Amino acid sequence: MAYALITGASRGIGKAMAEQLARKGHALLLIARSEDLLKDYANELSLRYKIPVDYFAIDLARPAAAQEIFDWCRSKDIEIDILINNAGYGLNGLLEDYSLEEYLKMMQVNMSSLVSLTYLFLPGLKKMPGAHIGNIASGAAYQAVPGLNVYAATKAFVLSFSRGLSYELKKTSVSVTCICPGATDTNFAARANVTSEKAVQMAKKFNMDPAVVAQISVEGILAGKTEVVPGLVNKLTRFFSHVLPDSLLEKSAAGIYGL
Ligand SMILES: NC(=O)c1ccc[n+]([C@@H]2O[C@H](COP(=O)([O-])OP(=O)(O)OC[C@H]3O[C@@H](n4cnc5c(N)ncnc54)[C@H](OP(=O)(O)O)[C@@H]3O)[C@@H](O)[C@H]2O)c1
Repeated sequence: MAYALITGASRGIGKAMAEQLARKGHALLLIARSEDLLKDYANELSLRYKIPVDYFAIDLARPAAAQEIFDWCRSKDIEIDILINNAGYGLNGLLEDYSLEEYLKMMQVNMSSLVSLTYLFLPGLKKMPGAHIGNIASGAAYQAVPGLNVYAATKAFVLSFSRGLSYELKKTSVSVTCICPGATDTNFAARANVTSEKAVQMAKKFNMDPAVVAQISVEGILAGKTEVVPGLVNKLTRFFSHVLPDSLLEKSAAGIYGL
């Protein structure tokens, strides 16, 4: 039985996507740093849905992490037919508010680990009769976001990489889906140190439930869609990001993120 590998499956959207796939009877491999959370959740899902669930605790900010995950899967004869690159986080503030090391780690998690896992697992995915890659970007992929700047740039990378790869693989059995969620009620804002009153108020109004985002995301991935934007408000935001002047979009984003 082939497994779905989900990064960032200890909480938030990744955890909810694991449940969606578990419901469908899919075997799971859960990846994140929090070993205790992964262990408890793997036991819970495996008991509740009677499916094999394994986990591997690892820090994706380490450049060797993707290769270690790939080697571990090989050593355990775990084959992957769904790869979901979901782990990611942001850092709210001005460029100089964080150390360079902190930015490079975030870029490693959000971009390099995603490309590395995709690169390493792709030959195996291509051997499957049907296989899927799901990459979680963000609505921030559609425009520059002052105050969340490096994060938004990493997500623009994820969107561009995913769309290009989707085209490259269109004659194969592997689909590539890029998901661009908007504000979702997870640990994201706390981890990113988002504290501005405007962002908090917007979150209260527009935050989506991670279970709903996960359901839409998993459906889109299994249907082989190229790009998925969960929720009407986020679809409208995407539309406006294509028609409004960049300077206006950037001013509005800067206001939300406390600049
Ligand atoms: N929530 C939003 O508003 C929102 C909006 C648009 C896009 N997104 C994107 O959605 C994805 C999921 O985020 P979320 O909202 O579910 O946030 P979350 O609740 O903070 O979950 C993030 C997940 O990523 C894992 N992770 C973070 N750093 C990691 C590292 N160095 N190594 C391994 N795993 C790591 C975390 O696990 P550990 O802490 O256990 O390692 C956790 O499972 C991210 O890519 C995020 O950018 C979120």
